[in-house]
Amino acid sequence: MLSTLHRGDAGPATAAREEFRRDVVAGLSKRQKSLPCRYFYDDRGSVLFEQITELPEYYPTRTEAAILKASAAEMVADFPAGAVLVEFGSGSSRKTELLLRQLPGLRAYVMIDVSAGALEDARQRLGQTFPRLDVRPVVADFSYPVALAPDLQGAPKIGLFPGSTIGNLGQPEAQRLLRLFRAVLSPGGRLIVGVDLKKDTGLLHAAYNDAAGVTAAFNLNLLARINRELEADFDLAAFAHNAPYNARDGRIEMHLVSRKRQSVRVGGCTFAFAEGESIHTENSYKYSIAQFRSLAVSSGWTPRQVWTDPGQLFSVHELVSA
Ligand code: AVJ
Repeated sequence: MLSTLHRGDAGPATAAREEFRRDVVAGLSKRQKSLPCRYFYDDRGSVLFEQITELPEYYPTRTEAAILKASAAEMVADFPAGAVLVEFGSGSSRKTELLLRQLPGLRAYVMIDVSAGALEDARQRLGQTFPRLDVRPVVADFSYPVALAPDLQGAPKIGLFPGSTIGNLGQPEAQRLLRLFRAVLSPGGRLIVGVDLKKDTGLLHAAYNDAAGVTAAFNLNLLARINRELEADFDLAAFAHNAPYNARDGRIEMHLVSRKRQSVRVGGCTFAFAEGESIHTENSYKYSIAQFRSLAVSSGWTPRQVWTDPGQLFSVHELVSA
């Protein structure tokens, strides 16, 4: 069974829809139009993201998996017995299997994701591979506090936040999230977090502007979702994907660029686009190891070990509560 977070009196579906509408209208009303990247992950978006992770140009997923494969035993070596593994934004949970294989004494695996479809697929697959594992899917946005099931609340907790999802956030939001995770995992929690590293701009550019156009489809799917869920009339063919590296801020930015002068209706509102005007849909910050460790410290965590690949493309950090 999937558990759903209920917020507001109107029921979860309506409340979520209203929040989506508010966020979209607010984002499109700004001078630099923007949309929150968490809305990429409807069921279709989650499938497209899975395809991105398999692209030849998209190094983060396979590099992080190689790091986990090489060092999983070391990462889990001193996990306390009866611990609960809590994954924030678990998606397909594929990389998690590399850790689960090393964790026969795990009390439960709590997987938190906004996509019920992704959770259900993962639950079924994990049930085959780890028949004795207690898997707890939670349909929720991990940027809000999540209460663990009462029977798990007393257990030691280890957070897992792989994939460099932290890179979506600027500094204050990243600090806020790391503090929130610390509260969810307390007392004495620890966190394993995957962080993409600064590197050659050409490699970065290729990873976010792939030749097959999957990242473009992922970006444009946000407009398709808005059309479907908010009765909007975006013409997907009239927007182009663009993902430049912003060296000053150390981040890849994804944009949807209007190919022409046009106006778009969303719900009751009309939004005008100049030719070449963009909607900023995502940031993907890249860190040096030292930069990320200092972010962790400023968020109340103590960095312990860090693992990386021979090419220094990606890093996995172990943080403990001070
Ligand atoms: C899931 C946020 C880590 O930033 O690399 C991939 C999302 N966007 N291609 C990333 C993404 C475009 C991804 N994260």
